[in-house]
Amino acid sequence: MTADLIDMNNITVYRGGEKVLDRFSLKLPRTRSVAILGPNGAGKSTLLKVLMRELYPVRTPGSWVKIMGSKTWNVWELRRNLGFISQDLHNRYFGYVSGLSIVLSGFHASVGIYDHQQFDDGAVELARHIMGDLRIDHLADKPYSRMSTGEQRRFLLARALVNEPTTLILDEPTSGLDINATFHYLRSIRKLIAEGKQLVLVTHHIHEIPPEVDFVVLLKNGEVVATGEKGTLFSDWQLSELYDAPIKVLSANGYFQVIPNDE
Ligand SMILES: Nc1ncnc2c1ncn2[C@@H]1O[C@H](COP(=O)(O)OP(=O)(O)OP(=O)(O)O)[C@@H](O)[C@H]1O
Ligand SMILES: [Mg+2]
Repeated sequence: MTADLIDMNNITVYRGGEKVLDRFSLKLPRTRSVAILGPNGAGKSTLLKVLMRELYPVRTPGSWVKIMGSKTWNVWELRRNLGFISQDLHNRYFGYVSGLSIVLSGFHASVGIYDHQQFDDGAVELARHIMGDLRIDHLADKPYSRMSTGEQRRFLLARALVNEPTTLILDEPTSGLDINATFHYLRSIRKLIAEGKQLVLVTHHIHEIPPEVDFVVLLKNGEVVATGEKGTLFSDWQLSELYDAPIKVLSANGYFQVIPNDE
């Protein structure tokens, strides 16, 4: 049996003196893609940072974080196993880095590439192959600062893919992308799911949850409100409760969308 992707039990996490997760527990299997939703400040990014070992819970009796079955990870090894994209990562890249360097930096889970890091022909070939798949190979030499947001995001996706991770952790991957770029990104992600990759997706854009992702976690105020099937949890009532707003849910072709429920 494969160990769970996440097994968090009773964890407490502080950020800037504020308790963000308070005796928080969540298990997510490795076999199922999941979308995590919740209002601003709910703790979604905090949860992913705990998973990526960017934040650690305080030690309390009976609390643990197991990732893929292990409580102890070499962070670099962990980050190579999980392809991660977030706004923080997006902001950490500097303007002069070329597209190819961004993708290559994924091999070391580092932000830039450094003189001591070696990349053999195979690594460069794989990076170019992934860029080709994502249709950004023509931008290999372009500096990051001169790319559009959508192009930058595709490079971060390519960076996340070089280690051939089984799981992709995406925190609002399409923020700032236009509709065409978003749909292109979505197609790339659906292809990866079809190839067998697991997706953990945090998003505010309900219509960007691929039809294949039918398991959802609803978070609010640092607590899990509900976990379950998308078809059940995406109800007018449940999402209105989650966001404290009158919401009407629509669906078509396996996608969902929300509009204000002003009647
Ligand atoms: N660097 C920080 N220092 C202090 N507090 C922080 C920091 N980052 C986040 N917080 C606080 O932690 C709580 C959870 O933040 P988190 O970023 O996990 O929310 P989120 O669900 O990802 O929200 P969003 O939808 O806005 O991205 C919020 O109350 C936030 O103010
Ligand atoms: Mg966030």
